[in-house]
Amino acid sequence: MKPINKIWLNGKIVPLEKASFLNFHQGLNYGACVYEGIRFYKTKKGSAIFRLKAHLDRFFYSASVLNMDLGVTKNNFAKAIINLIRVNKATSGYIRPIAFYSEPKMGINIVGAKLTVMVLIWPWQDSLQKKSVKMKIVKIKRLDPATVDLKAKISGYYANGLLGFLEARRAGFDEPLFLDVKGFVAEGAVNNIFIIKNNILYTPKLKNILGGITRDSIIQIARDLKIKVYEKNIRPDFMRQADDIFLTGTGIELEYVTKIDRYFSKNSAPSPVFNALQEQYRKVVTGSVDKYKNWLTLIK
Ligand SMILES: Cc1ncc(COP(=O)(O)O)c(C=O)c1O
Repeated sequence: MKPINKIWLNGKIVPLEKASFLNFHQGLNYGACVYEGIRFYKTKKGSAIFRLKAHLDRFFYSASVLNMDLGVTKNNFAKAIINLIRVNKATSGYIRPIAFYSEPKMGINIVGAKLTVMVLIWPWQDSLQKKSVKMKIVKIKRLDPATVDLKAKISGYYANGLLGFLEARRAGFDEPLFLDVKGFVAEGAVNNIFIIKNNILYTPKLKNILGGITRDSIIQIARDLKIKVYEKNIRPDFMRQADDIFLTGTGIELEYVTKIDRYFSKNSAPSPVFNALQEQYRKVVTGSVDKYKNWLTLIK
């Protein structure tokens, strides 16, 4: 069912067509939308997309969870992204594939609703992220795998992330740190967390978090650097004696955490383990480490 032709938009009554992307579509009303965030970097051999296959696997998986037929094969979608970068003459940046139910339709029944699939590109500096963040352990708990499929990246889930984000900001922190419903450390609003303690790397198990592709890359890179990695259930108290804590995500890469509530505070320089991981990650994404060349898709 379509709404009646005249709508109120930003203070004015305008024809529905003026807001073709804003009206009653289910992507907006019910979070019936899936998306990805992917980076591409300048390398010695030209620009390259980092872990395109893993991102497309997750994008297509997320779409399947919401019953979306993207109408394109993974292979052709990859080609379309490469072509879009070429057409935009971009050398490094951020890619956002997004698909959402976009029919002006009331009600939650998404079966058979029209789908819009888009890819957008932003320029993004290649420089190392030097920012650090202060996190608050928020009262609101992370989504639970008993209630949603956490392997999918579905927009509706981010209501949970946003509530935590606002709670953290109101208390004067930069970002939220979520615990799961059992009280174990889970993740940030849009990033995964790692703890370095006595030269060992710890990170929450996959069960209650999104399986970040940066998280996966860091685990592999650490193991190759002979740094031990444990995926385990982590209580907030475990962070008290940490040497470093950092976040991972496609956009932020590795981001240093200087404070977590009353559990962790760090004013001194990062440990050699953190520096080694950050440096190696940067080398990997820019194509300087042969072993990981298959993670890069060159834009030729
Ligand atoms: C909830 C959540 N956790 C973790 C991540 C980090 O994932 P990735 O490293 O694949 O960007 C993201 C980012 O998409 C996220 O939304």
